[in-house]
Amino acid sequence: MLPEFLTFPDPDAVAAEAATRFLTLAKAAIAERGQFVVALAGGSTPERLYKLLATRELDWEKISVFFSDDRFLSPASRFSNAGLALRLLPLSPKLTFPVPAETTLDAAECAAEYERELLAALGPEPCFDLVLLGMGDDGHTASLFPGKPALTATSWVTHSTPGVLPPPVDRVTFTFALINAARNVLFLVTGANKREKVARWRAGVGSVHTLPVLGVAPTEGTLTVLLDEAAG
Ligand code: 6PG
Repeated sequence: MLPEFLTFPDPDAVAAEAATRFLTLAKAAIAERGQFVVALAGGSTPERLYKLLATRELDWEKISVFFSDDRFLSPASRFSNAGLALRLLPLSPKLTFPVPAETTLDAAECAAEYERELLAALGPEPCFDLVLLGMGDDGHTASLFPGKPALTATSWVTHSTPGVLPPPVDRVTFTFALINAARNVLFLVTGANKREKVARWRAGVGSVHTLPVLGVAPTEGTLTVLLDEAAG
């Protein structure tokens, strides 16, 4: 399954489109099911989106927030994906689920605990209304890095040693099984450093082991990639 690729002039336009889609999906999910269940992306690209969402009318008391991956660090760390979202968004503490790095001994235990928390909150067949993702310039997504065992994990959540991109910290990550069970998957990919991998992705060239983004193929959900011109 190849995504719908949409190209916008610049990162601000990508963030604006993502914010519009986030709001539309949130309002529909809350109207239909009383809640919106979303997994936020990591890295730096989503920062513009989070700053926009903080200015919009959203019922955060009905929005459950998980993280499609994170570093095995406290949310207080400047390298924590959850920390970025917690600093920028008015998240409901009781509905926000950072990876439990502060109460587990290592990334493996943290991943197992995060899966238990996720299943307790969402039931045995977790289905996110929206999973937000980025892509590294090595073609990874979440913390599913080229050549790593996490690519073939059969659980809902797994762990990984660092990839080639910083920070060199163990990770906790959604697996393809969890991502592909989502109703909607939305990538935000910007910057010229990602151009080569985006071109291979659009051509369907490579394998999941060399280009992990190819492993994102929702079983029934939508798959959209928002690009700026530099990346696309
Ligand atoms: C992480 C992220 C990772 C990120 C990509 C893109 O923890 O590093 O979850 O998957 O989405 O590496 O990162 P940038 O948005 O910073 O380019």
